[in-house]
Amino acid sequence: MGAIDEVKQRIDIVEVIGQDITLTKAGRTFKGLCPFHAEKHPSFYVYPEQQSWHCFGCNNGGDAFSFIMKKQNIDFGEALRQLAQKAGVVIPTRFEPGVESEEKQKLYQINQAAAQYFHNLFLNSPAGKKAQGYTTGRGFTEQTIKDFQLGYSPDGWEGLKKYLLEREYTEKDMLDAGLIIEAEGGKTHDRFRNKLMFPIMDMRGRVTGFGGRALDDSMPKYTNSPQTPLFDKSGTLYGINLARDAVREQDTAVIVEGYMDVITAHQNGFKNAVASMGTAVTEKQVNILKRLTRNMALALDADAAGEEAMLRTVGYENTLDAEIKVIILPEGKDPDDVIKEDAKIWQELVAESVPIVDYTFDRATAGLDLTTAKGKASARDRLLPIIGEIKDNVRKAHYMQKLAGLLNVSERDLEADLARLKPKQISHRAKAPEPKPTRSSFSSPREEYCLALLLQHPELKSQDEGLLPEHFENSENKEIFIAWRQSAKIEAIRKKLEPAIHEHLDSLATRKLLDNNLEQKYVQCALDLREKSLRSLKHKQEAVLALEAQSGGTTAELAKLKELGIEVDRQLAKVVKSRRRFDQRG
Ligand code: UTP
Ligand code: MN
Repeated sequence: MGAIDEVKQRIDIVEVIGQDITLTKAGRTFKGLCPFHAEKHPSFYVYPEQQSWHCFGCNNGGDAFSFIMKKQNIDFGEALRQLAQKAGVVIPTRFEPGVESEEKQKLYQINQAAAQYFHNLFLNSPAGKKAQGYTTGRGFTEQTIKDFQLGYSPDGWEGLKKYLLEREYTEKDMLDAGLIIEAEGGKTHDRFRNKLMFPIMDMRGRVTGFGGRALDDSMPKYTNSPQTPLFDKSGTLYGINLARDAVREQDTAVIVEGYMDVITAHQNGFKNAVASMGTAVTEKQVNILKRLTRNMALALDADAAGEEAMLRTVGYENTLDAEIKVIILPEGKDPDDVIKEDAKIWQELVAESVPIVDYTFDRATAGLDLTTAKGKASARDRLLPIIGEIKDNVRKAHYMQKLAGLLNVSERDLEADLARLKPKQISHRAKAPEPKPTRSSFSSPREEYCLALLLQHPELKSQDEGLLPEHFENSENKEIFIAWRQSAKIEAIRKKLEPAIHEHLDSLATRKLLDNNLEQKYVQCALDLREKSLRSLKHKQEAVLALEAQSGGTTAELAKLKELGIEVDRQLAKVVKSRRRFDQRG
């Protein structure tokens, strides 16, 4: 049995949920006030037999893992670790993000202490008023200041240093964390003085470093933490901790340049924004985001975007298998300016974002006269190498056609030029992992068959059968499906997933399947899963309805439950109809 199943076997969902909310027994179920929406009468039910939960008020549900994930706003891996600990099961991992070296632990702590110090001074000290005046001037709300834990570093030389010394941190710790600077003669002083402070956090909300903004026009405008064991500017995305869920949900990340852009975006509801910290987007940053989505949109100032940086980003699209688009900003404006002026305009700019290769076409041909031989030749010289880099054949062909059309030459001529340009690259395919058959007592055979099909036949992705994460009851299967939706490539899926799920993934990816009628099989099992999840919901709804009717629930509650029943029936009818249509066809 895999470790995940072992955890499931040893925990009881009633006990797990019962630690967070008060549950009372109601027939064969338990009920309580839903922690995910405000309610006065319980519509949150736990089903011990299925080891699942459902709220009929906000229509959320799942297993013990999904409860903890939602309640604590953590990912599957963290939920697994918590439950495993509770169950006394050891989770084998290749990398263990929870365990850091002692040195790093200490640096996280000291950063956290510094962030608190700055935040507290911002809110409560007379000198902090200056910083407050500044943020008010820039339109930040109190909530924003809290969400981003903004702070103020006082105008002295040793404010932070003394504060941290009192808390038993050493000067060495402070130096290692980049919080103080060693001047000539060995004397040390605070790095950040009289600045508006932005704590920079990683995906898990741990403070890795700081940015400090001058409160007036003095230069430099920003001071950042230096490279430390925790802080690597090129591998940092400001705001990732707050953007994480939105990026996953919307399956797109918007990358802006600066602190202010992220904050204004979030304050206006654009919560999938992160900042690249003022530099060209790096491979590390793309890789971090790829754990959440493969779709990224870069907000670029038309003149600031150096051509070199652009080309590098096109490369990331290939090597990192991400889709990168460009949001073109009005000249001289950053997202902060645009959003403040009119959030609608920003929304439009995002909606109009163009794939980065198309954008590169525009840039490369701007100023060229494409009716002349010279203009055509230079456009070809600039663009053909880029097209040659594209690994995906369909996309490559698309841009070959585009270039041929633009230059009004034949594609064959371009092909010939491309062939002359460089030898064919040999792509290195990652070796498939050893198959390891596992049989699980908690398996959902239909879910797993469907996943095996999808994993082994990524081409099915273009066939939309209306399958959604919520159709998977098992949390691991759901995680795999979410990862598959973002990228159908096995290696990419592996990278996105918690290592504890890898074994399950491998067994699905290597399961023996018959290779015929794949499309029909996909239609069938997608319909099965949709129907299964609706029937399960209906089953739960009926049990609760009977209970409520018996114990004299309010008419409003009963009406709501009935309404849900009607909706489920409607959805079921749809599935049945699709099935009939499909059967007639096939
Ligand atoms: P910007 O100059 O566009 O800053 O630099 P901004 O965030 O829009 O700030 P405001 O609106 O002028 O107050 C973009 C980003 O480049 C980095 C910072 O991360 C900044 O947010 N930067 C800029 C520095 O690190 N140091 C600097 O001196 C300037
Ligand atoms: Mn700005």
